[in-house]
Amino acid sequence: MKNYSSENFLDLNAFRGTGEDPVYHPPVLTGRPRDWPLDRWEEAPRDLGYSDFSRYQWRGLRMLKDPDTQAALHDLVQEVRPRTIVELGVYSGGSLVWFRDLTKLMGIDCEVIGIDRDLSRCQIPDSEKTNISLREADCSDMATFEQFRDLAHPLIFIDDAHANTFNIMKWAVDNLLDQGDYFIIEDMIPYWHRYSPKLLVEYLAAFHKVLTMDMVYANASSQLDRGVFRRS
Ligand SMILES: C[S@@+](CC[C@H](N)C(=O)[O-])C[C@H]1O[C@@H](n2cnc3c(N)ncnc32)[C@H](O)[C@@H]1O
Repeated sequence: MKNYSSENFLDLNAFRGTGEDPVYHPPVLTGRPRDWPLDRWEEAPRDLGYSDFSRYQWRGLRMLKDPDTQAALHDLVQEVRPRTIVELGVYSGGSLVWFRDLTKLMGIDCEVIGIDRDLSRCQIPDSEKTNISLREADCSDMATFEQFRDLAHPLIFIDDAHANTFNIMKWAVDNLLDQGDYFIIEDMIPYWHRYSPKLLVEYLAAFHKVLTMDMVYANASSQLDRGVFRRS
């Protein structure tokens, strides 16, 4: 067993919502066989039977977007036909490959940019990086975002890093988004609404002249819940 005094502890908050292991593993059923006998069909358990953390994958890469969110983003991409998709928060990179494959299938000439302060967990093989670029930047240091000023439009920007979000949104409005472009806050709105409702409402209202909430997508999945904004 290690001794605390010789440890250099990692910030466990950095792993929140992502887990330590970015590699996708097929589900392992516990306490039941995969092949259930049909003469006991009525007794079969109805719960998932395996860990529900990060159960979604795209071509063998973990993808932290559930099927409802995938369906809504599919529709948004089909509607907007973006020339650039920026995803802040890469983790294993499955969603970048998914966006790239989706836009390619739709015949859209689109560059997918993945931004993260820690790209070491990205699992995209070199052979799969066409039209995907991985860039390092840290949400707590806005100067590291200067490299993203000149990008093709229409553009969809997804914040899935959940750090310094409203300053990132401010930077994007001032420096990146054109009319009709999107800024999406994934996952966090319901938590912030629960724990910091006054500040959340105040912060969102501060953008009322430059962003609107797109009601076609704002309620389309729990991960996108009230977090889909369009540049006015
Ligand atoms: C939820 S994961 C991204 C999942 C991915 N977008 C997907 O859908 O599969 C969050 C990522 O944000 C990154 N992150 C956390 N804080 C950050 C920061 N301050 N700056 C940049 N990236 C950060 C983490 O390293 C992690 O890879």
